[in-house]
Amino acid sequence: MTQDELKLAVAQAAIAYVVEGEIVGVGTGSTANFFIDELAKIKHKIKGAVASSEATASRLRAHGITVFDLNEVSAMPVYIDGADEITASGAMIKGGGAALTREKIVASVAKSFVCIADGSKFVNLLGKFPLPVEVIPMARESVIRALNAIGGEAKLRMKDGAALLTDNGNVIVDIHGLQIADPVALEKQINNIVGVVAVGLFAVQGANVCLLGTSEGVKTLQ
Ligand code: 5RP
Repeated sequence: MTQDELKLAVAQAAIAYVVEGEIVGVGTGSTANFFIDELAKIKHKIKGAVASSEATASRLRAHGITVFDLNEVSAMPVYIDGADEITASGAMIKGGGAALTREKIVASVAKSFVCIADGSKFVNLLGKFPLPVEVIPMARESVIRALNAIGGEAKLRMKDGAALLTDNGNVIVDIHGLQIADPVALEKQINNIVGVVAVGLFAVQGANVCLLGTSEGVKTLQ
């Protein structure tokens, strides 16, 4: 099976976690896009969605799915999103698509996080994928110095010759070369650096369920 076929398989499996009559939190990225396209097929059964990025909001709206502002929503049963890396205990690296802050915010309001990922995302140790950190632009250099002191090599993410800007108008610093033995401790440590908006480690609140696409079928880890 191709990677896209595996992504489609987990996106289809995730529909079983969508609660009828409720609002669903929706992540960002290519796997989340497959999920949005599947969600469109049952859109009459849900109240609507909360989006974790402008791109996701546009795709949801293009399918005719109502997009709620998170400030209008006090609770939602489930948030469904992809990951760049995930461990057996549900700790993740996210933010390859630069949407980590909104993803973390929407996930924090949901009762349960269902991660949908192709098998290549499953790891024993997080850190091979560069760890994204969203940073207030004026703190870029001070945060890079603080991150380099922790270990690895912190690099500003660029796009078309300029610093990539997030939906929130901030920059992304990716930390390369980490081996993250204690993701909860590292998440808290990076969150404490002044100027950091959010770190793409989802370990304090990780995934409750992971639907992993493999050539033998979709495996459920929980
Ligand atoms: C975006 C994310 C994505 O969930 C992550 O990058 C995985 O993306 P894809 O499904 O395209 O592999 O965190 O910020």
